Order: sequence, then C-alpha cells, then structure tokens
Amino acid sequence: MRNARWRAATRAAIALTGAGALAAGMALVLTAPASAGTTLGASAAEKGRYFGTAVAAFKLSDSAYTTILNREFNMVTPENEMKIDATEPQQGRFSYSSAEQIVNHARSRGMQVRGHTLAWHQQQPSWMQGMSGSALRQAMLNHVTQVATHFRGQIYAWDVVNEAFEDGNSGARRDSNLQRTGNDWIEAAFRAARAADPGAKLCYNDYNTDNWTWAKTQAVYNMVRDFKSRGVPIDCVGFQSHFNNESPYASNYRTTLSSFAALGVDVQITELDIQGASASTYRSVVEDCLAVARCNGITVWGIRDSDSWRSSQTPLLFTSSGAKKPAYDAVLTALNNGTTPPTTEPPTTPPPTDPPTDPPTTPPPGPGGCTAAVTVNQWTGGFVANVRVTAGSSALNGWTVTITLPSGATVTNAWSADRSGNTGTTNFRNVAYNGQVGAGQSTEFGFQANGTAGTLTPTCAAG
Ligand code: G3I
Repeated sequence: MRNARWRAATRAAIALTGAGALAAGMALVLTAPASAGTTLGASAAEKGRYFGTAVAAFKLSDSAYTTILNREFNMVTPENEMKIDATEPQQGRFSYSSAEQIVNHARSRGMQVRGHTLAWHQQQPSWMQGMSGSALRQAMLNHVTQVATHFRGQIYAWDVVNEAFEDGNSGARRDSNLQRTGNDWIEAAFRAARAADPGAKLCYNDYNTDNWTWAKTQAVYNMVRDFKSRGVPIDCVGFQSHFNNESPYASNYRTTLSSFAALGVDVQITELDIQGASASTYRSVVEDCLAVARCNGITVWGIRDSDSWRSSQTPLLFTSSGAKKPAYDAVLTALNNGTTPPTTEPPTTPPPTDPPTDPPTTPPPGPGGCTAAVTVNQWTGGFVANVRVTAGSSALNGWTVTITLPSGATVTNAWSADRSGNTGTTNFRNVAYNGQVGAGQSTEFGFQANGTAGTLTPTCAAG
C-alpha cells in the first residue's frame, strides 16, 4: 500500500483559478528569543512563524538528538505516538504515555505541539480495522473526542483527518472503512474535535496536494471551500510536502498555499522532506511560506537523515551525525531574509469567508503589572479566543483579564480561567494552577463564544 502511495500521481490539467489570492490570517503569538537569527525556531518566530519537527518518543533519551531538538525547533509533532493504534490500542482503553512524554518535553521548553492524527485509514488498531458502519462511525467519533479532550488546551493544531483523498486524477475520496461509513465522516470528525478542544486549530492534512495542477489538490481545495461555505469548523490545511522524484516540488507551490489561504483557512507545511535535500528547493519552500500571510509555519519530518522514514534519500536538514547540511543554511538564511509578517493583507479574490483579524499587539508590561494579547479564530457564527497573559518585571500572584465583547457575542465556555459574565464586559480570573507567573513569563487561557469577535482589546490587572 505504501509503494502505491508514492507512485507518480497522474497530473490533471486544471486551469488555475483564484490563484494569487491571500486571505487574512490569525497571527501566531511567538516571542523571538535571544537566539533569533541563529536557530530555525527563533528565526521563524521573528517572522511570526514556527519551525517544527516530527519527534519520536524513544529518541528523547538520545542526547545528540535532544540537543538539536531543543536548540532549533519551537514546534513538535509526535511522529507516531498520537496515532490511533498508539492512543487506543484496545477499544475504550486509552494509552497516552508516549504522546505525553513528547508533549511534556515540548511544552516544558516552550515549544508548541501539533497533534497527529485523530482519524486516518492507516495505523488503525486491529479492533478498528475490523469495524464498519455505524459502530465504526461511533468508535471514530469517540476516539476523536477522547483524545482531543485528553490533550485539550495543549495542542496548537490537530490533524483531525489525514490522507482521505485518492492519488491520481480521480479527485475522489480514498476508499477506506471510514469513508464507507458515509461521505460526511470528515466533517463529523471536525465537529467532534471542535467540541472537545475548542482552542486548537483544526486541520485537514494530506500529501500529493502541493502541486496546484494536480487533481488531488483541487479535490481537497473543493472540500475545504465547501466546508467553509457550510460552517464546518475547519481552520487549516496541512501540506505534508514529502518531495521526491515522483512528487517533486513545483514552482506553483506558492499558488497552492495562497489559493487555500484565500478560502479563509491557515496553511501549514506539516511533514517536509526533500529527496537529496536540495538547498535551493528548501529555500524555495521557506520563501513560499513566508510569502503567504496565513502560512503559520513549517515542520520537517525528522531531525537527522537517520531519523527519516526515508533515510536512504537523505532528505533532512542534519546529517546522521547531527551536522548542519547546506539545506539547513539555506533555510536559516531564507528565514532571516524574509519580510516580517504583513499586518494588512493584499486584496483577495475570491474574498475570504472569515473577516480579517488583526495581529495582536502587546505593549511592554510595566513593573508589577501584566498585559494580555488575544488571538481570534473566527468562523461563521462563532469564534475561539486564545489569550496570552504576560507578567511585567515582577512576578504575578494572580491576574484578571477584562474583555469587552461586542454586542451579539456570548461566551459559551472558557478554559484555564474562571469567567464572570458572558456578554459585554467579561472578566477572566486565573485558576489555581496558573495564577503565579514569573517576571516576564506568560500563561494562556481561552474561551469560545457565539457571534463575531471584531477587534478585542483585553486589559490585564495583577492580583
Ligand atoms: O516500533 C516498532 C518496532 O518495535 C518494530 O521493531 C519495527 C519493525 O518494523 O516497527 C516499529 O514501528 C514502526 C514505526 O514507524 C516506528 O518506527 C512501524 O513498523 C512503521 O510502520 C512506522 O512507520 C511510520 C509510518 O508513518 C506509518 O504509516 C513512520 O515512522 C512515520 O514517519 C510515518 O509518518 C507518516 C505520517 O504519519 C503521515 N504522512 C506520511 C508519513 C510518512 O509515511
């Protein structure tokens, strides 16, 4: 099956439509540490992006591996540990220890986490492989709900559904036991994920969707356009971008990213590797992401060539002994040369479904005080707000954030904060575990609401 996946996909000649359009994007709130300009993560953060890698839990005891991981990356994707066979090996019995090992390693070092993946036709445990119909649909939705709830508040973006489209020129959904439960299985998975972890971005993730002219790319594009028009809660599209001789990087990649972004979703490069690790191709990928306002960041699928699922292709940024390759230098230079994230968007054609959201601005906190910055993820009829609380030059022992919601907006739930009120002026007070924030440090809470956020201006008070 794996070989079949990588057979050259038949290229369909499809006229470019809606190309070059950029949609307004949610801004990532990332702080550029002192090492900005010298590591991938810090340089990406300076451009409002992240730079991530896939991580295997069993390698966290390899200090050569963790030295590079901790130095270079600010986003982490568990390579296998969050997949269905890992997290629900027996039906109804969940197993999170390897995934938690990675999440804890990342979050304790200020890295964010992409959750991969909640629903997929591969790496299903044997109990699920044998299921069909409504029992499978129910089991899949329960899996999405349980896993997303378990990690609620800790995941930057979930790959809710992975690889649901067929290769080649059919533009059809891939046949699988999940697909046979009904064509609406993907949107059902997204709705379950939103309910379980409302603060996370929800992505559809696939491969061979990088070339704008390929039928599979167009098929996913049409699904996302349909989801946005019907209010299915999708926030982002992941482009795996495993580039090789059969599925090479194409110069229309930027058109692909910008065309999806114009639908009103973020785009993320989720599993990048390039056969032979051409420095100029890596540079082009970085430049393409930086050129698209809603391209949140890039994740490479492993650290050293020896960590790659295709190590014989030497497709990564570090040699097997951990040395930086020319591709590494090309990526770092491209990140450092890139322009800062746009604060206003170019005209969009077609217009995005969601209204633009301005990036948050964080004035420097005064001594003893705190500031709050909000990032809004708006969809038709509702939104999720993530709020970052930052202490000034003194540590906080408790905080309250006040947000005045526009008319028609009603908070339905909040996490990592106690809320008073749900319309108009609404206060969010720390809970027991996040009231103490060191000088200059941050903590986050979030809430979900009906209505339209508009521009939210949070204020923060210490104590
Ligand atoms: O852990 C066992 C080990 O105990 C055993 O000795 C060994 C023998 O084969 O297998 C080990 O498990 C392997 C696992 O990787 C960990 O290395 C599995 O067989 C192998 O199938 C699994 O492959 C993973 C593959 O997904 C499975 O579909 C790769 O690591 C992982 O990089 C790859 O990642 C996928 C993304 O999830 C989706 N996009 C494509 C990408 C590449 O295929």
